[in-house]
Amino acid sequence: MKIIKAKDYNDMSRKAANVISAQVIMKPGCVLGLATGSTPIGTYAQLVEWYQKGDLDFSEVTTVNLDEYKGLPRDNDQSYYYFMNHHLFSKVNVDPARTFLPDGMEPDSGKACSDYNKVIADAGGIDLQLLGLGHNGHIGFNEPSDVFEAGTHCVDLTESTIKANQRFFASIEEVPRQAYTMGIQTIMQAKKVLVVVSGEDKAAIVKEAFFGPITPRVQASVLQLHSDVTVVADEAALSLI
Ligand code: GLP
Repeated sequence: MKIIKAKDYNDMSRKAANVISAQVIMKPGCVLGLATGSTPIGTYAQLVEWYQKGDLDFSEVTTVNLDEYKGLPRDNDQSYYYFMNHHLFSKVNVDPARTFLPDGMEPDSGKACSDYNKVIADAGGIDLQLLGLGHNGHIGFNEPSDVFEAGTHCVDLTESTIKANQRFFASIEEVPRQAYTMGIQTIMQAKKVLVVVSGEDKAAIVKEAFFGPITPRVQASVLQLHSDVTVVADEAALSLI
């Protein structure tokens, strides 16, 4: 595991965007695994800026997102589809037909998950997976559990995640209780993993996840077993290690 220390959020965003742009330049037809949450917003903004300058071309890229809320339509401004479209897809030349997220409006969880596993398999697996880190160590929506789930599955969000995401909704009642998320095996099979972390409030979980025991209670700890993980974190997030 490589840990790259950034000065602050902007520096973290630039460094992470550099890693992603290197991937796109080296393999224009790559499969990028993408993440939502507030942490990667600056990374996407930087990629958009470099695209606008003519330095990046996404025309052959395929994207697969980590997760989607169950029951939110794509045009709901809290859906992860909406987020990705707003922050990246509508601002670069990625082919919309090659951008994938789990189908949050598919009520049959078994079908939604097996369809998404097939999308990832058909794309040939993930070259570079971008991840944020939840306060409880979740990656995607893989919440603390007794097991590491392999493929895409439907999760009941924990109270702490519902509370953390409440800030994006009008009220806590509106936060969906379930989501579809890529599984840990799929994430671990990505050729490269890039984790972005920012802020003092993430310092304790950074220490636990990357320097503590490997346990499904802290799902991100499994990344210690991946052979090519880069963590780009700002000084505040690294303040306890
Ligand atoms: C969300 C997402 C995760 C994200 C995490 C942290 O619930 N499902 O993919 O990484 O929580 O979010 P943030 O970056 O806003 O702290």
